[in-house]
Amino acid sequence: MSIDIHLDEYLIPEEPYYAPQEDEIPLFEAAYANNIPVLLKGPTGCGKTRFMEHMAWRLKRPLVTVSCHDDLTASDLVGRYLIVGGETRWADGPLARAVRGGGICYLDEIVEARKDTTVVIHPLADDRRVLPIEKTGELLQAPEEFCLAISYNPGYQSVLKDLKQSTRQRFVSIEFDYPDAELESEIVAKESGLDDKMAARLVKFAGMTRNLKGSGLEEGASTRLLVHAAKLMHSGISPRVACRGAISETLTDDPEMLKAVNELSASLF
Ligand SMILES: Nc1ncnc2c1ncn2[C@@H]1O[C@H](COP(=O)(O)OP(=O)(O)O)[C@@H](O)[C@H]1O
Ligand SMILES: [Mg+2]
Repeated sequence: MSIDIHLDEYLIPEEPYYAPQEDEIPLFEAAYANNIPVLLKGPTGCGKTRFMEHMAWRLKRPLVTVSCHDDLTASDLVGRYLIVGGETRWADGPLARAVRGGGICYLDEIVEARKDTTVVIHPLADDRRVLPIEKTGELLQAPEEFCLAISYNPGYQSVLKDLKQSTRQRFVSIEFDYPDAELESEIVAKESGLDDKMAARLVKFAGMTRNLKGSGLEEGASTRLLVHAAKLMHSGISPRVACRGAISETLTDDPEMLKAVNELSASLF
């Protein structure tokens, strides 16, 4: 099948660095080969987006990412009629574009989207692999190359933000979490240029904040925040200032909690 020219800009030209935690790469490849959609579960900042970029590069498919939010409607994904110079023209949304062009469509934080959006992915996520475009009467058949991936953070689960069984049971699920300390230090060092010793100390600090999850902190420091702090340190910012700016102040506004988190970093740096 020929690739829609408009998806070329979504191709990832160079290998994105991704350090696997377990067997998520072969698992994704097998799901892809069998036309089974994939659900990535895990907290924010633990590598889900990077993993998708890496897989898109590996599979040589364009990656169309949509960050879902509470205003996102089915039309935002599928498409709408636009009036251009007095003429009415159909414009594909990102999902329709990915289906037509045989790309990978990654719907990030799917539970944030409005309920009608999860309904449009259902026929795409089962054996039919079709996207009905109600407004044009079209029924798009997804080509072999198309892949649907969604992410979701079970940590924020509430009855409203839960992913329904009728949706989740269509997917192969891959669980993500923060990498173990050794691997996480390696990632932080590699991403920032910071030396291994300091990277390992940041990871230790992260562990302390993660222990505070549920007792004052909504979340501990993610790998993403560690990379930010490490980059600041590598640019010459002192570790305490870097940790405060990239980690403590990012995690909380509560003065008591801030003090506690800053004391933790002071004990290490
Ligand atoms: N396994 C990993 N390999 C390489 N980099 C990683 C990995 N996990 C996390 N990172 C780093 O953490 C950052 C945040 O990860 P990201 O994929 O954006 O998280 P998520 O999508 O889960 O919120 C990345 O930009 C990257 O620097
Ligand atoms: Mg992400």
